[in-house]
Amino acid sequence: MFHILVADPISKEGLDVLQQNPNVTVTEDTNLSPDELESRIGQFDGLLVRSQTKVTRPIIEKASKLKIIGRAGVGVDNIDLDAATEQGIIVVNAPNGNTNSAAEHTMAMTMALSRQIPQAHVSLQNGKWDRKKYVGVELKGKTLGIIGLGRIGTEVAYRAKGQRMDVIAYDPFLTEEKAEQMGVTYGTLEEVLQESDYITVHTPLLKETRHMIDANAFSRMKDGVHIINCARGGIIEEEALYDAIVSGKVAGAAIDVLEEEPFQDHKLLTLPEVIATPHLGASTVEAQENVAIDVCHDIISHLTGDTAKNP
Ligand code: NAD
Ligand code: MLT
Repeated sequence: MFHILVADPISKEGLDVLQQNPNVTVTEDTNLSPDELESRIGQFDGLLVRSQTKVTRPIIEKASKLKIIGRAGVGVDNIDLDAATEQGIIVVNAPNGNTNSAAEHTMAMTMALSRQIPQAHVSLQNGKWDRKKYVGVELKGKTLGIIGLGRIGTEVAYRAKGQRMDVIAYDPFLTEEKAEQMGVTYGTLEEVLQESDYITVHTPLLKETRHMIDANAFSRMKDGVHIINCARGGIIEEEALYDAIVSGKVAGAAIDVLEEEPFQDHKLLTLPEVIATPHLGASTVEAQENVAIDVCHDIISHLTGDTAKNP
């Protein structure tokens, strides 16, 4: 028998994949503190998490039986990959299941930012009928700069073109030919920073991308640029974003993710130009079913001797 710990909430459909397998027993405990996880991890062959649980080196070093860590989602930045590799533990994710949801959320945030929908809603709730204050800007004819044209960046590009935006993208793996096929302008990072009215980031959080949007990057952008981050906190340097908004360089920012999560009372949230959601990019019924089913199948495959699809 293989013992699997589900440490973050996942959809019932994913749990069914595990629970219906006769070779597996499942323990669902989604409220473990880091210390509790460290003391209990030694009993398990598989660990399943979303982004909430941080699978750190001390936890991995106590995971004497662990063979696989499954991440029900894309980003594996909450898992110490070096420690897992040293211990011979495979890490699998579910890279495709939440692409649409994250792209749709990015567009929803971009539109809400342009028309100040959350601010106008709160104002209305407070009894004000203020039509002058909430004059927005159109997306049509504006340039959207996409940094990171992978799965989600690509879906955002297609949706932005549907809004009749011009799209310029930077990605080290993008070719001019691919950009042309997509109807997207192929740009350097510098060109994206300088030419965009809206900039959205869709890279993973890596050493190379941490704080890639810093004070220097903001200084090269157009005045009145809009910033969207539905990828990972930490790609944008938060203090620099705050300063750029206060100085008027950035007209507004839409943020689904911050460096420290969960976040409350964050300085950025005090600014009226900022709209934010609590890491909801993948929070749809469809995406949560997809990622949970995909990652649970991969966990079973690996534990029962088959090849995992998404190592
Ligand atoms: P992906 O791997 O398909 O795409 C990432 C792209 O970034 C790749 O094309 C890669 O070449 C590019 N890239 C890497 N380094 C770069 C750099 N220095 N400059 C420019 N581009 C660079 O990943 P994805 O599925 O599109 O996910 C993108 C991001 O969105 C990840 O950070 C992921 O964790 C995050 N995400 C967030 C949510 C959410 O709930 N908010 C949901 C899903 C994914
Ligand atoms: C992801 O990387 O897939 C997202 O952060 C979604 C999530 O797990 O919440």
